[in-house]
Amino acid sequence: MRKSQMNDALNSVFRPKSVAIVGASRFPGKIGYEILRNLKEYGYKGKIYPVNPAADKILGIKCYHNVLEVPGSIDLAIISIPAKFVPPVIDQLAEKGTKAAVVISSGFSEVGNRELEEDLIRRARRGGIRIIGPNVFGVLYSPTRLNATFGPRDVRPGKIAFITQSGALGIALMGWTVTEKIGLSAVVSVGNKADVDDADLLSWFREDENTKVVLIYMEGVVDGRRFLKEARLTTKVKPIIVLKAGRSKKGMAAASSHTGSMAGADVVYSASFKQAGVLRAENLEQAFDWAIAFSAERFPKGNKVVIITNGGGVGVMATDSCEAAGLEVFDPPEDLKREFKKYMPEFGSAKNPIDLTGMATHEEFRGAMRSAIKHKAVDCIIALYCETAVSDPIKIAEVIKEVFDLSNKPITATMIGGERVNEAMAFLKENGVPVYPDTERAVSAMAALVRWMEKRSL
Ligand code: ACO
Repeated sequence: MRKSQMNDALNSVFRPKSVAIVGASRFPGKIGYEILRNLKEYGYKGKIYPVNPAADKILGIKCYHNVLEVPGSIDLAIISIPAKFVPPVIDQLAEKGTKAAVVISSGFSEVGNRELEEDLIRRARRGGIRIIGPNVFGVLYSPTRLNATFGPRDVRPGKIAFITQSGALGIALMGWTVTEKIGLSAVVSVGNKADVDDADLLSWFREDENTKVVLIYMEGVVDGRRFLKEARLTTKVKPIIVLKAGRSKKGMAAASSHTGSMAGADVVYSASFKQAGVLRAENLEQAFDWAIAFSAERFPKGNKVVIITNGGGVGVMATDSCEAAGLEVFDPPEDLKREFKKYMPEFGSAKNPIDLTGMATHEEFRGAMRSAIKHKAVDCIIALYCETAVSDPIKIAEVIKEVFDLSNKPITATMIGGERVNEAMAFLKENGVPVYPDTERAVSAMAALVRWMEKRSL
């Protein structure tokens, strides 16, 4: 019962036909104004109802003085008014038959105001409304062009659902994903998690065809058992990457005062994540590196990797990283070695790592990479390029993309060099090819794919 009601409510959150913004402000720069503007300008196509007792029109959209004046039904309410005024609005929304509300307002349990939060949730339960928050920056779902946040407006559509317990960090990362050309299916700020929590969201994203990987920044979970149950079911279908902060004693204390989380012993989290098949990232960079690789939707059958490079040094570094990460840099069978030798001078190496040498151009990369994707002994390919005067980084990137498009094996790439390499990497990112500025990151992303596949098949 709870589950189907929750799913209906989350359908209203992510695919609403109508959205009311309670506390839509007349003044640019105020949160209620910026949410309305994001909603309008990101291209949401449903009905938008700004609610403000003192306004008739904001941003050219007709306003209503209170929720009950809104003529149609309200699928989703975004509430951005001072905390103490929120509970009565919940009663009005219940009268309208609203199923879900996102409470932006701060001033609840995170500052010790537990009674107000309990009152909010009591009224929501009574009225059949599920609450995201309070104390959040909003919700974004790119397939429905719903940007009901006061974060950046132009988030790139993609396949990563990002759930964050930290507000400021979440907003900052939304902006960062734009410059890094990382696409997101959803962003959910969960704040105090007084009602909807990570487990509920996992259950929804598991079924969501637009989401291929879920990335969670968390400081703690409310109901560990339920989280692990949903996580276990989800990782069978799609990967979950968790960045869990509050490892140290002082970090745990900070988490507790930030979002009121019961942080709990870090080792327990680590062990439980591992058991449930959740991938725990060490830091933000790693979490997104992995998510980018999963977004490419090519999965390895095993851990046998071929490293193809024009630089001996990066080949050696990547080999070290592979060994540490559990990827096998295996000796290729003779027929594959013969293939590789066609694309290198006498002094190249057809042993893994495949060193095409500094003479290699995009033609040699093309030949070697195509041979690798065709051969059944190879599970995955890591392509490493160092900029030289005899090769064109843009052409190299075009070849990597060309082979990536042909391949159902995963490929990660590293490109190292100057301005032209930056351009080439931007081209690859734009086209969804996992590319990283150093070898260790390309290896780490590939190893995450392998770990998930291994765990999933258990
Ligand atoms: N129904 C509809 N509109 C109302 C109601 C009501 N019951 N009550 C007030 N309003 C209107 C106001 O008239 C006002 O409109 P105006 O600007 O045109 O005059 C608007 O709603 C907002 O009300 P204010 O009283 O001006 O409140 P303000 O905008 O200053 O603050 C807010 C509201 C943003 C919710 C604030 O209380 C708050 O909680 N801020 C923190 C939010 C936050 O940071 N959340 C966590 C995000 S995560 C992170 O850390 C980044």
